[in-house]
Amino acid sequence: MSAQTQTRRITAADIRARKGLEPLVCLTAYDAPMARLLDPHCDLLLVGDSVGMVVHGLASTIGVTLEMMILHGQAVMRGASRALVAVDMPFGSYEKSPQQAFENAARIMCETGCQAIKIESGTYAGATIEFMAQRSIPVIGHVGLRPQAALAEGGFKAKGRTGAERARVIEEAIIAEKAGAFAIVIEGVDEELAREITQTVKVPTIGIGASGHCDGQILVTQDMLGVFDWTPKFVKRYDNMAERTAAAVARYASEVRERSFPSSDEVYTLTRIDG
Ligand code: KIV
Repeated sequence: MSAQTQTRRITAADIRARKGLEPLVCLTAYDAPMARLLDPHCDLLLVGDSVGMVVHGLASTIGVTLEMMILHGQAVMRGASRALVAVDMPFGSYEKSPQQAFENAARIMCETGCQAIKIESGTYAGATIEFMAQRSIPVIGHVGLRPQAALAEGGFKAKGRTGAERARVIEEAIIAEKAGAFAIVIEGVDEELAREITQTVKVPTIGIGASGHCDGQILVTQDMLGVFDWTPKFVKRYDNMAERTAAAVARYASEVRERSFPSSDEVYTLTRIDG
């Protein structure tokens, strides 16, 4: 028997059981070093398809591929040992049929070792979630503002401005829950709608731009660290990494120009043997 003590990883069942209890702390992660930093503080790390915009500089999440998600999922799994790691299914990898969704979700899980997948689940997605959940894929739904639908819907717009729209978001959440999702991300809705959905479904809701009335919150890590000049209005910045990085790089550049390096003799303490 190994003498090593292994950290127990948080499971989908653990997340499911947190409904109405201590709020779930969730952030996105796309690489191993950041996952290592976030892991001790988070219940869930999402390898979001936002990686396309945050890391690859795409204008939207359309264009993110299954291969990209798998590569970033593998990196995050190497960095995180405790948090549940969920990987987003990118646009085009799950909408065609429940079978297509299952095959690609199984590939993501086998090739990354992640504990769950997430899909942006409109009202059409019930059969897909059910097919996957019944075949042992832990699924997180995602309702309200669905970034993969932004081109079809005319932009990244908050949801629930009309009665019909509110009813639709509630329906999306109920469909995801009934189909077997173990948690539901709610994006871009007002407090009242977030509260109503959270009270209606029996699985935890994880809000992004959806107030404090959810069972937890998720943010894009780079947004809350202030990596970009612009962040969505609902994001509270906990740091200003853009400014701090620019200042550090400027300091580095001026030291290199002044040839102000640590002496390599001090660094390596070399013993010369040639006299
Ligand atoms: O892709 C993403 O990062 C998401 C959010 C919920 C943060 O889906």
